[in-house]
Amino acid sequence: MDIRIERTNTPKDLPGKDNPLVFGTIFTDHMFIMDYDTSKGWHDARIVPYQPISLEPSAMVFHYGQEMFEGLKAYQAEDGRVLLFRPDMNAKRTNKTCKRLCMPEIPEEDFVQAIKELVKVDKAWVPTKEGTSLYIRPFIFATSPFLGVRPSTTYKFVIILSPVGAYYPEGLDPVKIWIEDDYVRAVKGGIGEAKTGGNYVASLKAQVKAHEEGFSQVLWLDGVHRKYIEEVGAMNIFFVIDKVVVTPKLNGSILPGVTRDSVIRLCKDWGYTVEERKISIDEVYQAHKDGILEEVFGTGTAAVISPVGYLRWGKHDMQVQDGGIGNLSQKLYDSLTGIQLGKLQDTNNWTVEIE
Ligand code: COI
Repeated sequence: MDIRIERTNTPKDLPGKDNPLVFGTIFTDHMFIMDYDTSKGWHDARIVPYQPISLEPSAMVFHYGQEMFEGLKAYQAEDGRVLLFRPDMNAKRTNKTCKRLCMPEIPEEDFVQAIKELVKVDKAWVPTKEGTSLYIRPFIFATSPFLGVRPSTTYKFVIILSPVGAYYPEGLDPVKIWIEDDYVRAVKGGIGEAKTGGNYVASLKAQVKAHEEGFSQVLWLDGVHRKYIEEVGAMNIFFVIDKVVVTPKLNGSILPGVTRDSVIRLCKDWGYTVEERKISIDEVYQAHKDGILEEVFGTGTAAVISPVGYLRWGKHDMQVQDGGIGNLSQKLYDSLTGIQLGKLQDTNNWTVEIE
């Protein structure tokens, strides 16, 4: 793919060393854009100064939400290399989402090339402080000016970059999670496993309620029985019960997380029994009562590994062990970030250097 590059004449100041890099608030100097229409396919790939996008008010994305997004990160290694983590997985998931939402797929190599070229142009923005990275947000949306309900015939694929610190203000400190048994996020056959804004807007009502009660995030139960655990708003969820690592099996309504997949692989490599299966909230509650709920943690690109110290399910409050960071959560955080930062050997060939 040919990518035209137009550099900005007015570069912004880089964030200072003491800037906390609050998640998703600062954007770099450039962005990637590519257009699609049914006659030309994807065309006119370009990197341009970061700028507003002009769209018709009738653009279909505003009315029927035909859009998708991804999230991955670039890391500054100690030896000066800039590394991506498993970008091929994001490319594959993009195309799975696009198929589900009747949007045009993007060749995997073009998706990864666009990210590499953009990060190369804005390499100076990859932060170096511990716990920081350059968050990469690719997204695709419908642009046809039309109010009928059908797939759009034109789209834009855009990538923006944002230097970030921890997703939760708590950092690696354990978060409090609200288990939602009234609202639901997704149902089988719907779009729960697609990475699309609709799943996140569906989560807001319960999230606002959880925040008002002093909780960071919502843990969703399945949409039919309100019994089986699915995922948390911005991450997948894992439990360690009596030394066994358990996570909900992907069932069509759960997002197939890249960090989830990596954590399963690392735990298996370390000799843990990992079960991907249905797990009910009653089982978690019983394990807590029996004293064998050893750890709970979330996984996600933005959240990395987020220990959960406290759960509320209706009238039941559960503190997970002493409410601190569990041993496995800490080991996973250290290992994943160690690989991502090029400090630990990458035996699975997950990192991709930007040259
Ligand atoms: C990510 O972890 O990259 C996500 O997309 C979660 C997001 C909603 C912050």
